[in-house]
Formats: sequence, C-alpha cells, structure tokens
Amino acid sequence: MPGSVAALLAEIEGVGRDASTGGYRRFAWTREDAALAGWFAAACAARGLDLVTDRCGNQWAWWGDPDAALAAGTGPGVVTGSHLDSVPQGGAYDGPLGLACALAALDRLRGKGFTPARPIGVVRFVDEEGARFGLACTGSRLLTGTAPPERVLALRDAGGVSYAEAVAGAGGDPGRIGRDEQVLRRVGGFVELHVEQGRGLADLGFGVGVGTMIRPHGRWRVDLAGRADHAGTTLLADRRDPMLDLARLVLAVRESAVRRAALATVGRVEVTPNAVNAVPGRVTAWLDVRAEEEAQARRVLGDLATVGFGAVEESWTPATWMDGPLSERVAARVAAVQGGAPRMATGAGHDAGILAAAGIPAAMLFVRNPTGISHSPAEHAEPEDCEAGAVVLADVLADLSSAPAASTPASTSSDS
Ligand code: HGY
Ligand code: MN
Ligand code: MN
Repeated sequence: MPGSVAALLAEIEGVGRDASTGGYRRFAWTREDAALAGWFAAACAARGLDLVTDRCGNQWAWWGDPDAALAAGTGPGVVTGSHLDSVPQGGAYDGPLGLACALAALDRLRGKGFTPARPIGVVRFVDEEGARFGLACTGSRLLTGTAPPERVLALRDAGGVSYAEAVAGAGGDPGRIGRDEQVLRRVGGFVELHVEQGRGLADLGFGVGVGTMIRPHGRWRVDLAGRADHAGTTLLADRRDPMLDLARLVLAVRESAVRRAALATVGRVEVTPNAVNAVPGRVTAWLDVRAEEEAQARRVLGDLATVGFGAVEESWTPATWMDGPLSERVAARVAAVQGGAPRMATGAGHDAGILAAAGIPAAMLFVRNPTGISHSPAEHAEPEDCEAGAVVLADVLADLSSAPAASTPASTSSDS
C-alpha cells in the first residue's frame, strides 16, 4: 500500500484528461470532481485515516482524533493538503502533488513506526481554482467565512448552473454551507505543499523551497456592450462592434501592466452570440491582476478606468505573509533534510493563504518545476523532486506533531 508520489499521481492521471493535449479539466462539483473525491476517500480509508467532509464539501482525513486531542489538551492537529480541481487544460501537478505527497509522507511515517503525539490531518479543499464559478479558493473561503455563502451559492457557470445547484447535483447540501468553527478548531497549523509555479528553485539547485508570502491579486469582469448584427450586410460605419473595444482593452491592460510593474492578464473572454457570421452583441472579458503591492494592482484598474473601461471586482486576495514561527520551524526542517531552505514569494493564490489570512498558522512548501510552466499541460515536476517533497513533508509533519500542542508554534495564532 505505501505508494510513491508518482504511483499515487498515476492513480488519477486519467481523470478529466484531454487525450489530445494531455491537459486536465477537473471543475468543481462535476463528475470528474466526484471521481477525485472518491479516489481521495479510498486512499485515506486504505491508510486507516478517519475521513470527514465539512459543511463546504472539503474532505478532512485524520490520523488520530482531533476532538479527543483538543479535549485532552494535546490538540489541535497539524494539517497538510491541497486541492484536486484544475483550470481548463491544467497540468497534472497543480494541487494533486500536494495531496500525493501528503499521502506518501504518511506512508513514510507509518513505515518507520512513527506515532504522532498530535493528530495529523490531510485536507482536500474543493474548488481552489474557481475555474467553473469564477471565485478562487472557494472551499477555504467558505470554510473560514471569508466569502459569504449567499454570494457563492448564487454564482453561475457558463451554462447558467448555480453553485447551489451544482452542490446539490453532486449530493451536497447547499443549505449547510458556511463557516465551520468545529472544523477550524481542529487545525493548529496548516502546511501546504505545491508544485512551484515559476523557476525560482530551478536556478537554486534545491528540490524544495519554503513560501514567504502570496502577492496581492484579484479578478475583475469587464462588460463590453455592442449591437448584434449580420456580418455580411451591416456596413462598417453602422456597426457597434464590442470586439474593437476588446482589442483596445487587451492592449490597455498590457500597457498598464508594464507601467505599473504588475502582471495583468485577460485570459477569459465570452462573446455573445459567438457566431462566425454575426457582429457580437456583447463581449465579457475577465481580468487577473497581481503585483508586489496592492497599490500597483489598483493602479492598473485606475488606468483602465481612465481610458473608459469599468471593471467589476469578482475576488481580491490581499498580500498574505507566511513568515512566522510555523514557517521558521518548517524551514529549519527543510534545511536539516536537504541542506538548505530557499525562501520564495509566489504570485499564485493558495488555500494556505486563505487560512493564514483567517488567522490559522500556515506555511507552504514548493517542489521544483524545471520549466516553471503551470496552468498548462506542459506543467511538470521530476519524480525525484516529487519524492523529495514527500520526504521533507514527512519530516515536517513528524516535527510538528511530535510535541504536545503547548510547545509548538502551530498552536499559536501569531503566525498568520
Ligand atoms: O490563480 C491562482 O493563483 C491559483 O492557481 N488559484
Ligand atoms: Mn492553480
Ligand atoms: Mn494550486
């Protein structure tokens, strides 16, 4: 049963995979998501972990009883985990690597006869990418109360299905969704392992790095109105073609991003009616903006407003620092295992950032990605680096779960 990381990843490699591109489509609350949830539940059951699903659909597998530990004063637990959903045409590692390493790390600890003094949990967060309903880190935002349930439940996908309908269709109860105090109380500290989405480690010669912060980032919607008409009969002078505005928008976004030293992207566009022989009546574009500082990102939106583009904010994540005692303790173990612990900020959002912002001590480990490419079928991590991630994670979990709650930083809330 103890599996290598590669073997664990191989168990799900066919779920939602596009054979023509090798990319993945694993959207929240779909049959692919259900298959992945079933895989995770079976893998945890095979390891004797106690699996519970919280009010928001996140899956929590425990080695040890976190409620009994809290009652006995040896809790709360130490949790690791990540997500299994993807962006459209996503890679095989963004999310799944964190869970495969978590399961492999527990296999290593059990194989050595280790018994944790504090419970160890593995969590699979739902809908981290927000690819279907537009809000990133939905499962962790709902769990922590960062996103109001009524707003999320009303979100609709491209086919008009609401989040509430999707949850109900997957057998969940949308009426229960919301902050889950009982679940949060069990988490003394959270360590998320994730494939690096950049090349920082490739140039440093280490397989594993330690996160320091998540840069501020947000998503906006831009609605461009036009007038639908016949492509073959409407004179150019008579047209109100929103595609021309889209072209202006994309160029204005890039120009502002350069000026503000931000990363700004128009990656998703919906054209209505999206017909070859029709002048569009409406174009909707989505904007992703990230920067070192919040002000830089906000200035991009200001620049767009100056040239006539209003944008509706759909999500915002402030700069989230993970540089407190928990991260320092994690880094010390990383250095002990691999001879060094490179620190790195990231522009990618993660559930760890949502928990940290909610006051739960959180840390991140990144596994080297030789090309840095992510959100693409080309995303890759070498098997030996994936295994190194599991080795480091096992050591980190052993360290954090070996001492009673009172003496480990994970039980403090100062590390948010
Ligand atoms: O968009 C992000 O940064 C993450 O992949 N959800
Ligand atoms: Mn991602
Ligand atoms: Mn991810």
